Amino acid sequence: MKLVIAATGASGTIYLQRLLEQIDCAAHEVHLVMSAYADKVAKQELDNFRIPESVSRHSDNDMNVPFVSGSARFEAMVIVPCSMATLGRIASGSSDSVLLRAADVFLKERRKLILVPRETPWNLIHARNVVTLLEAGAVVLPAIPSFYSRPNSVTAVVDTVVWRILDQIGLSNPSAYRWGMK
Ligand SMILES: Cc1cc2nc3c(=O)[nH]c(=O)nc-3n(C[C@H](O)[C@H](O)[C@H](O)COP(=O)(O)O)c2cc1C
Repeated sequence: MKLVIAATGASGTIYLQRLLEQIDCAAHEVHLVMSAYADKVAKQELDNFRIPESVSRHSDNDMNVPFVSGSARFEAMVIVPCSMATLGRIASGSSDSVLLRAADVFLKERRKLILVPRETPWNLIHARNVVTLLEAGAVVLPAIPSFYSRPNSVTAVVDTVVWRILDQIGLSNPSAYRWGMK
């Protein structure tokens, strides 16, 4: 599978970290783009943010990458965590960075675009932007954990969101907790 994973300056680098850890990045073609604020937040939130060696990391300001063109075939793009700033820019049709252009391409090509926003509370502009993105075909999967699996650590709480992202990509984690499964 060919995937684009993008990160922005919302809180929640650990969601990105756990996603990278649960995708077999050697078995799939994984491209990573991080905004400037994503880098700053990663430094603030994690002592040791690790990108698997097989992941191709790209700058957010060099369009010389395959996934900014509809002619390159990719299955899915995930923006995790997704700031409300980036969510609003995508909803407005802005595509003047690699990350934004890629999101724009995934929407126009009707490919899977999964946004994982982290913000609370929402103002009306946030809510309207989310509606616009849903209408355009995006999956909006807020970073809202669940607790019915009785997670006993921060990582376990984070994984309740990461498992939903993996399900959406089509790379479900066989160890994911599922209600009603023994
Ligand atoms: C430590 C820190 C935490 C932040 N957390 C959030 C957040 O949870 N959600 C959000 O929408 N913005 C958050 N922001 C603000 C964004 O980083 C800011 O709006 C930035 O312009 C986003 O740019 P980007 O989307 O290009 O990364 C945070 C900023 C900092 C420094």
